Amino acid sequence: MIAREGRGSLIRRLSAPQHCGSLKVLNARSDTAEGGPLSHTDEYTATMLEAMDLIWGEGFMAPGGEGHVRQMVRGLKLCGRRVLDLGCGQGGPACLVARWGAEVVGTDLEAALLTRARARVEREGLGDRIRFLQVDPGPLAFADDSFDAVVVSGALTQIEDKLATYRECLRVLRPGGALRGYDWMKPPGDVSDAMRDWFELEGLTYALRSPDAHLSMLREAGFVESRCRDKSAWYRAEAAREAERLRDTLHPQLVALLGAQETARFVEAWRLLARLCARGELLQVYAEARKPAH
Ligand SMILES: C[S@@+](CC[C@H](N)C(=O)[O-])C[C@H]1O[C@@H](n2cnc3c(N)ncnc32)[C@H](O)[C@@H]1O
Repeated sequence: MIAREGRGSLIRRLSAPQHCGSLKVLNARSDTAEGGPLSHTDEYTATMLEAMDLIWGEGFMAPGGEGHVRQMVRGLKLCGRRVLDLGCGQGGPACLVARWGAEVVGTDLEAALLTRARARVEREGLGDRIRFLQVDPGPLAFADDSFDAVVVSGALTQIEDKLATYRECLRVLRPGGALRGYDWMKPPGDVSDAMRDWFELEGLTYALRSPDAHLSMLREAGFVESRCRDKSAWYRAEAAREAERLRDTLHPQLVALLGAQETARFVEAWRLLARLCARGELLQVYAEARKPAH
């Protein structure tokens, strides 16, 4: 299912990849690119990002900050490797992966996020190792076999056609390359009214699937050695603490950032998030898979 239909960015269908000759950049957005109207409406406001920074650390838009990125790339050789960060957001994870020695290309739909990501790269002096690209939803903007690893932190959560995205990840990976993802998932079956309320309060696109559904899409896309690691127990406790901090120590900063009304909405959204995690309706799962070597 996909939440909040009508917000422009919701139905993200992937069509067959189209190569652009020697440019080797597909579906990248540029001022001079030909094409119809863009199909994404920005969802992250500056204040929402500031608020997320307070909770998850500056530049991170998924729970856990640096520890989360370590979990995601656990066991992966990064030094000297070429890594695609699909849905890189404000660049927190991409900067870490670059600091650990990789050459990183980050893509995202939203220009404002990439502006913040580029500022971070500048501050950290990582400009020679990271490049960011604004893209439209759809086929990935890269040639076949062009990355050693693809990392996707929290972006598949927002992409309806996950199978097509997994196929694209496989295409751009070199043989033997690794896919590492973190996503919010759900148990099989319908979502509850509380979950729908949370989607509504968050105001973001959500297209959640179960871990088994992810695994079967990974296999169908052609990946091997696919597995999921469920870290929901960790985040269950963490989310409860986050909700408490938002009501308590972080509350004055939130009000200064968002104003009283928006803070009330934000705090309520986090209360619901913690409740959904506690009830096992919202899962935090790391997925990994490999492109066959031959
Ligand atoms: C939850 S945020 C996570 C950002 C970042 N990966 C992190 O962990 O901090 C998900 C990001 O995916 C981006 N996104 C969603 N669909 C995308 C797509 N089809 N292509 C590229 N980025 C996408 C969103 O704009 C958003 O920045």
